[in-house]
Amino acid sequence: MSERIITIRALKYDPLSAVSKPHFKEYKLKELDSMTIFIALNVIRETQDSDLSFDFVCRAGICGSCAMMINGEPRLACRTLTKDYESGVITLAPLPAFKLIKDLSVNTGVWFEGMTKRVEGWIHAKAEKSIAVLEDPIEPSVADAVFELDRCIECGCCVAGCATKVMRDDFIAPAGLNRVARFMIDPHDKRTDADFYELIGNDDGVFGCMSLMACQDYCPKELPLQSKIAYLRRKMVSQAFK
Ligand code: SF4
Ligand code: SF4
Ligand code: FES
Repeated sequence: MSERIITIRALKYDPLSAVSKPHFKEYKLKELDSMTIFIALNVIRETQDSDLSFDFVCRAGICGSCAMMINGEPRLACRTLTKDYESGVITLAPLPAFKLIKDLSVNTGVWFEGMTKRVEGWIHAKAEKSIAVLEDPIEPSVADAVFELDRCIECGCCVAGCATKVMRDDFIAPAGLNRVARFMIDPHDKRTDADFYELIGNDDGVFGCMSLMACQDYCPKELPLQSKIAYLRRKMVSQAFK
């Protein structure tokens, strides 16, 4: 049974208010057993600050809405326990690289929609499908590889943890590279390496990646970003020399 009083320091700022200035507001609260940052934020909003903004939907690490910077690292608030912070002082800030809505809430949806359009993140079918053919089977191992990359919950943790993306807004970011890899390995997609080279064969694409792999470290779904970025780089280097 926890007896600690913890301190949550949350960044508060409303970009739509002329009088609002970014500042950290401190809240003290009793730590509960198995308390997540998400629960702590709800307690704060219910008992201390009804104006505090943050996002959540599923509370179970599925929707990707609650990502934020927790003591400087991008994480899901609903999957992060307060007890893991020994000092009892936890600083929260919105994810960088996304448009700030207010306080800890950012608009990841606009970025992911733009990225999807940029990489044409949908199947480019090889031929018109006949409704008489119900299935277009592929090897189970290939299907597994595609589904593995489809597990991305679009939380934005890898994007916020990518120094290249934070410094260079046009960089496609690890989530974008993951999306390209997903369609590149899918045999239902007719695009060739040359087509994908047009999308990511430059410094805003795979060649801008510095390979330090913060993205994989921060991905809460443990997607294999490291191996997939290496795969894309190999493919795109070969394409460059064709
Ligand atoms: S490995 Fe590449 S994509 Fe991943 S965080 Fe580093 S620069 Fe970004
Ligand atoms: S790849 Fe991982 S960290 Fe990046 S958006 Fe998807 S789930 Fe989140
Ligand atoms: S609330 Fe859905 S992932 Fe945290």
